[in-house]
Amino acid sequence: MPITARLDVATPGHRYPILIGPGLLAEGEAWGGLPAARHAVVVSNTTVHPLHGAALEGRVAHAGYAEVHRVLLPDGEAHKDWSALQSIFDHLLSCGCDRKTVLFALGGGVVGDLAGFAAATYMRGVRFVQVPTTLLAQVDSSVGGKTGINHPLGKNMIGAFHQPVRVVIDLDTLSTLPTREYVSGLAEVIKYGPIADASFLDWIEANLGALLARDGAALAHAVRRSCEIKAAVVGADERESGLRAILNFGHTFGHAIEAALGYGAWLHGEAVASGMVLAARLSSELGLVPPAFVDRLERLLARAGLPVQAPALPFDEWMRHMRVDKKAEGGELRFVVIERIGSAALRTAPDALVQRVVERHGGAALPRPAAAA
Ligand code: NAD
Ligand code: GLY
Repeated sequence: MPITARLDVATPGHRYPILIGPGLLAEGEAWGGLPAARHAVVVSNTTVHPLHGAALEGRVAHAGYAEVHRVLLPDGEAHKDWSALQSIFDHLLSCGCDRKTVLFALGGGVVGDLAGFAAATYMRGVRFVQVPTTLLAQVDSSVGGKTGINHPLGKNMIGAFHQPVRVVIDLDTLSTLPTREYVSGLAEVIKYGPIADASFLDWIEANLGALLARDGAALAHAVRRSCEIKAAVVGADERESGLRAILNFGHTFGHAIEAALGYGAWLHGEAVASGMVLAARLSSELGLVPPAFVDRLERLLARAGLPVQAPALPFDEWMRHMRVDKKAEGGELRFVVIERIGSAALRTAPDALVQRVVERHGGAALPRPAAAA
């Protein structure tokens, strides 16, 4: 099966390809010219490795590495933590992996973020290849070099920017992905329309049925266009000094939902979907977009099967979690808002307005302690 799209990510210090196509784990085209080394390490988890590990390890062995090691992590967002990271280091050190070692991250965003952070820090940095196997990882987390782990007090709070040397996206790996996970990934696909490309939003609306049916052509287009947008944003602002923050549309609210409910209770894309509705409402309340845009986004997310109403949380709990958001500056929250469809920006908003948005549109408000009222 051929590579159907080849994109470049170009940051000030790095340039690397994203290779997209069906069946890329089953053939050699995507695997030539990898960095030479004695040791290669496939990092995956106990769910993904039995499905796709043998195919990747075959490719890696053919690529000329004398020793191909395997690290299998426990599955789940709850394991995106120090202990999983430590287990990667334990394996690397006990196998004698040197600083030329190449890591291969096979899995969703959790494995990619963990393996990437291990690669960023092992012996002060080794090279790694992203082989994403969830829709979310294929359209978002495998591209752009954000790596890291969660802290009980905040999601993705410990990490590093470390670009992969290559991203290999085998669209066929999505055939084994459970529906709920697939739909969660669609939230990040939908995100790219409002923030960067109005016509992509039109296209998603028109092709949602094909996407939900995992039609090969629709999927290939959605993944390619998403990666093009992400690559352009990362190329312009690798370290998130400004523009890159737009990729976090819906994430300030979404991360708060994930942290408040406990990592893994709501999937990342589910939390982001209802977070996008809240962020769209906020944009509308700020007078940037008409209420009709919010309804349109909500309809599309609901058609995809994503939650559009946030869980009911006391406002002080929203604020407690949102204050640790990485976009906050000097304690002041900043939200990604939609200025017009296809264009986003970072804005502050008065607490009272944020409260109105989450309480009116974020599920029934729970009674708040008197001190917070
Ligand atoms: P995930 O990695 O937990 O994968 C979801 C589930 O699907 C897991 O159970 C996994 O084992 C399973 N799975 C993966 N591929 C499969 C396949 N092909 N067949 C069957 N099962 C498969 O979750 P995710 O949604 O991929 O990623 C979410 C994570 O990504 C979050 O931690 C989030 O913070 C992070 N993220 C990072 C970035 C970034 O830029 N680094 C961007 C967005 C999200
Ligand atoms: N997913 C947000 C980013 O990569 O910046």
